[in-house]
Amino acid sequence: MSAGSAIFAGHFAGRRVVVTGAARGIGLGIAQAFASCGAAVLLLDRDPGVAEAATELVSQGLEASAAVVDLTDDAEVKAVFAGVRERWGALDVLVNNAGIITISEIENLSTADFARVLAVNTTAAFAATREAVPLLRAAGGGSVLNASSGQGRQGFIYTPHYAASKMGVIGMSQSLAKELAPDGIRVNCYCPGIVETEMWAYNDSEWGRRLGDYRPGELIAEWIADIPLKRPAAVADVANLLLFLASDAGSYITGQAINVDGGMFMS
Ligand SMILES: NC(=O)c1ccc[n+]([C@@H]2O[C@H](COP(=O)([O-])OP(=O)(O)OC[C@H]3O[C@@H](n4cnc5c(N)ncnc54)[C@H](O)[C@@H]3O)[C@@H](O)[C@H]2O)c1
Repeated sequence: MSAGSAIFAGHFAGRRVVVTGAARGIGLGIAQAFASCGAAVLLLDRDPGVAEAATELVSQGLEASAAVVDLTDDAEVKAVFAGVRERWGALDVLVNNAGIITISEIENLSTADFARVLAVNTTAAFAATREAVPLLRAAGGGSVLNASSGQGRQGFIYTPHYAASKMGVIGMSQSLAKELAPDGIRVNCYCPGIVETEMWAYNDSEWGRRLGDYRPGELIAEWIADIPLKRPAAVADVANLLLFLASDAGSYITGQAINVDGGMFMS
């Protein structure tokens, strides 16, 4: 059990949580953390493996279920939240975690690829939030947590679309935080630095071969050496922040983007 799950043990009992991009990586860790603290969690992903991920949580004695959904398809998003309404009638926490990245020189980055990254990282978070708002209102308020990134703070080379999407999600969250505050709905972003997921394996190899003659793992090691806390984030480090933000202890925090990156970025 992670430190956050121990601190918030039982805190989310009776609360209903939806986590997107939950078949693996950070999203799966977030789903597990909320479920470990007593929540009923619905895991969403376009990857059918999300069903197995939920089954694994259930086998740990946790309350979890799954639905396969492409979050860039508005009709699918509407249908999945209609299902949430039917089943739970209300929602306490929405985590818009699903995300994609590609790394490419500008000459090779098509407008369609640029739009695809925005569609998942920014627009899908908007669409899911729009569908969730009536359910969050029905719960008497709640928490929306959106995945941004270190690239929500500063653009990296070869990822103009990803940086735009992750800065965009912060602006969107600030706007929605103002609109939804009267309903008791708080909207915040989390900005991970380096988390060693499948996404990072791709980053390491694609940035590595463009930025020098790096062998697998060498670039990430170099970047980690520059992090003040000298290690990458564990998935649980990110989940711990989300438990706090969604908890009653985070009730005065809205419209914020919070770095969870070992000090990689300090603004
Ligand atoms: N790994 C890192 O170092 C890092 C750093 C900063 C921010 N982030 C952000 O954190 C989030 C999670 O990252 P991760 O490393 O776990 O990534 P990951 O690639 O391991 O997992 C992302 C999940 O999102 C799902 N997904 C993608 N497009 C989808 C769609 N259209 N509909 C439904 N599901 C979809 C994928 O199937 C996958 O299961 C992302 O938003 C990412 O941008 C990650």
